[in-house]
Amino acid sequence: MKLVFPAIEHKEAALAYRKEHFERGERDIQGDSGLDYTENYNDWLVKIREDLTREDEQMVPGTVYFGIVSGAIVGMISIRHKLNDNLLKIGGNIGYGVRPTQRGKGYASRMLTLALDECRELGMKRVLITCDKTNIASAKTILKNGGVLENELTLNDGSVTQRYWIDLEG
Ligand SMILES: CC(C)(COP(=O)(O)OP(=O)(O)OC[C@H]1O[C@@H](n2cnc3c(N)ncnc32)[C@H](O)[C@@H]1OP(=O)(O)O)[C@@H](O)C(=O)NCCC(=O)NCCS
Repeated sequence: MKLVFPAIEHKEAALAYRKEHFERGERDIQGDSGLDYTENYNDWLVKIREDLTREDEQMVPGTVYFGIVSGAIVGMISIRHKLNDNLLKIGGNIGYGVRPTQRGKGYASRMLTLALDECRELGMKRVLITCDKTNIASAKTILKNGGVLENELTLNDGSVTQRYWIDLEG
């Protein structure tokens, strides 16, 4: 597994990654920095390059990666370099997803481990990851990477979000 910043040569593989989710009824792809809603892959490449430094009232700088195994995209992971008030509550520093046919093989855990190394490179001291309480696979992924549960928030729709911190200095 390696994390690779998306480029033009990944176009076909990225669109196939997206299609696989859609065919399984997953319209919102996690950790993909908007690949799911883009009309044009090349425009998305421009957007994610701008995202590296974009900062305004809504957005913090962020980096997205493909998780690649044997030349195939198995997952995506996005790192938000900072937290704003919204992300501090829900969203956190890192979001990720693994394509439906490749789940349960340890790829999310490995992607998160590699992303935490990137966070250290960015000078981050700790990261927040949030996940829905019913998402057992994601909670295990976080726990395996050193996550410590801070608290649980009940949202307006009744769902419960867990907030985990991972210390990068220990
Ligand atoms: C959550 C998700 C990223 C996990 O990816 P994955 O590659 O299947 O995860 P891993 O194979 O690394 O497994 C992580 C742990 O969860 C467990 N696990 C995997 N699938 C599981 C499932 N359906 N139910 C319960 N546990 C599960 C694994 O056994 C492993 O724990 P273990 O090491 O103690 O055995 C993937 O299911 C996914 O993409 N879901 C949709 C998007 C999403 O929910 N993203 C996270 C948002 S917070």
